[in-house]
Amino acid sequence: MRAPSLDDAPLTELIAAQCSSLTPELEMKWAAVSPYKGAFEIDHGDRLVAFAQRHGLAIRGHALVWHAALPRWISDDGDWRTVERHIVRLAGRYRRQIAEWDVVNEPIADGGLRGGWMLDQFGPTYIDRSFHAAHEAAPDAQLFLNEHDLEYAVPEQKERRDALLALVRRLLRDGVPLHGVGLQGHLAIGRGSLDRTVLGDFLAALADLGLTLAVTELDVKERHYILPAEERDSHAADHVAHFLDIVLDQPAIRSLTCWGLSDRQSWLEVTDADRARFPGAWQDGTDPGLNRGLPYDAALRPKSLRTAIALSLDALRR
Ligand code: XIL
Repeated sequence: MRAPSLDDAPLTELIAAQCSSLTPELEMKWAAVSPYKGAFEIDHGDRLVAFAQRHGLAIRGHALVWHAALPRWISDDGDWRTVERHIVRLAGRYRRQIAEWDVVNEPIADGGLRGGWMLDQFGPTYIDRSFHAAHEAAPDAQLFLNEHDLEYAVPEQKERRDALLALVRRLLRDGVPLHGVGLQGHLAIGRGSLDRTVLGDFLAALADLGLTLAVTELDVKERHYILPAEERDSHAADHVAHFLDIVLDQPAIRSLTCWGLSDRQSWLEVTDADRARFPGAWQDGTDPGLNRGLPYDAALRPKSLRTAIALSLDALRR
């Protein structure tokens, strides 16, 4: 959820009624809280926390360290204490309100650790140190490593799963306070197959290490923008149903978060490349509209994707 959504009354009512947890989409990222050296701008984060508390929602803190949200000013500052201060300030501020944090987000790339400022400055143990700092500041919080593109049975994602497993095993062996792994779940129709054995075995391997698992950022990037809205919705819903059928079979999965509730909030866009796949379409002035990969449409009407999620969760209770 983003802070501006707090002023959207129908949406906040829906969130309060439908959800049991919220994740700040931007407001707790490092570049957002500290746009210039010395800044600590946390008003939006505080507003989201207050909203969550008012409505009895849990909060998933997101994300203490993420390559895409490093403030520019840190490139002149190679001091670990700067990173540590950031982690401690944020995790410590909310230690009573936030019981679950994404400590390191997206550390994997190209079959190993993602390159970049953190790895260059501090080496692979920047991950260990980040978790230790978060644990000291918020000793009761469940600390997660969160990662994308682990879901499909395609070679590049197999490499990513293997790299993640190797990393997690190493962290646990070295006594790092890592409690959970988040599978982002940014699904994309046409990306590949969601295979029960491949994905199930991967989740089982993580669960066998004693970790809690979560789907942290579920949404669906569509493919067939040319179809009528209802058909588009049922494609997205089927994809999610299939994904959840595999994933929720793993008892270590303890939570499911969508990356937005309504298509009006989606970060996924219908791009020019998407439009180019359908030459001649929309010449009558119609438009593919928004990507429809979230449970509610832009007018906050529930779609088949919402039904798919509800049915999957119901099946779990039986
Ligand atoms: C995205 C937000 O949704 C966008 O609004 C923002 O511009 C960029 O970040 N993986 C993550 C999230 O862990 O933090 C990202 O969120 C989406 C991909």
